Amino acid sequence: MKEELIALKSELAELLERVNDLVELNDLRAKFLGKKGKLTAILRRMGELPQEERPFLGQLANKIKEEIEFAIEEKNEKIKERIKKDRLEKEKIDVTVPTKVILGHRHPLSIVLNDIIDFFYGLGYEVVEGPEVEWDYYNFEALNIPKDHPARDLQDTFYITDEILLRTHTSPVQIRTMERNKPPIKVIVPGRVFRSDAVDATHSPVFHQVEGLVIGEDITMADLKGTLTAFAKAIFGEERRTRFRPSFFPFTEPSAEMDISCISCNGKGCRLCSYTGWIEILGCGMVHPNVIKNGGYDPEKFSGFAFGMGLERIALLKYNIDDMRLLFENDLRFLSQF
Ligand code: PHE
Repeated sequence: MKEELIALKSELAELLERVNDLVELNDLRAKFLGKKGKLTAILRRMGELPQEERPFLGQLANKIKEEIEFAIEEKNEKIKERIKKDRLEKEKIDVTVPTKVILGHRHPLSIVLNDIIDFFYGLGYEVVEGPEVEWDYYNFEALNIPKDHPARDLQDTFYITDEILLRTHTSPVQIRTMERNKPPIKVIVPGRVFRSDAVDATHSPVFHQVEGLVIGEDITMADLKGTLTAFAKAIFGEERRTRFRPSFFPFTEPSAEMDISCISCNGKGCRLCSYTGWIEILGCGMVHPNVIKNGGYDPEKFSGFAFGMGLERIALLKYNIDDMRLLFENDLRFLSQF
């Protein structure tokens, strides 16, 4: 039995050499130490031995068992170590390999919007937003646009139901802001607007506007002119001149359109300004008393001015781009110029 035990050890050592993975090792463990294993079989026969040999062989058997367990455990660690090393090797990333990284940057529309917001922040305006899916009431009714007004034409407005539509301008946020706040009010409202227009160099069914609203006591047309002239200079250069032409919007009275001296010819007349020397950039006016009333204020006590501009138009002019579609196609060759 002593020889058998010692032979068991060397047999194991030999078999261990050939084991490559944990499954094989488990099989081997069962083969030697399991219930039907070789060592167990030998130990079972212990009872057949003469009394005096038992202590010695018992000790030897225990020692051999420990050695076998130890050898298997050692192999187990080795295999695990190797698996880990293989995995690390396979997943290795060389962080020093040079790559061509193209850094992202802001879209021209975002750059211009930030410039606009910066200017009005400086004057103490707040930025607010409103929903793109809007009630007819806010988009038209409350803005003094009667039911039969051409602006409500199905050809211009995307209606969802009789009462719900995609806002055609950011002006509904004028009413929403007045409803929620007490005067004085000074807000700027950037946002997407929708009109049923075909896409061309100067039109898109989805575009952006920036609205402005100021309400307080004793706000006059002089405030409007001073603010918007300073704005034009901040965005298009100190040398810009402005002029205000009478116009019409149902929600302002009086209404005007603001032109800036042509950024291409400086007023001499060129193709860009159709030889007028002026370029229209926004609509504005003194908030109509009906609109102030609809916002929940007393038009006898409060007055104000409002303006609205197309963000794409401002960007096209500022960067001398001749086709609005370039702003939406997101061609990197175009975008990377800003
Ligand atoms: N909402 C008008 C438009 O979409 C612009 C505007 C806003 C005009 C505020 C006057 C005052 O054309």
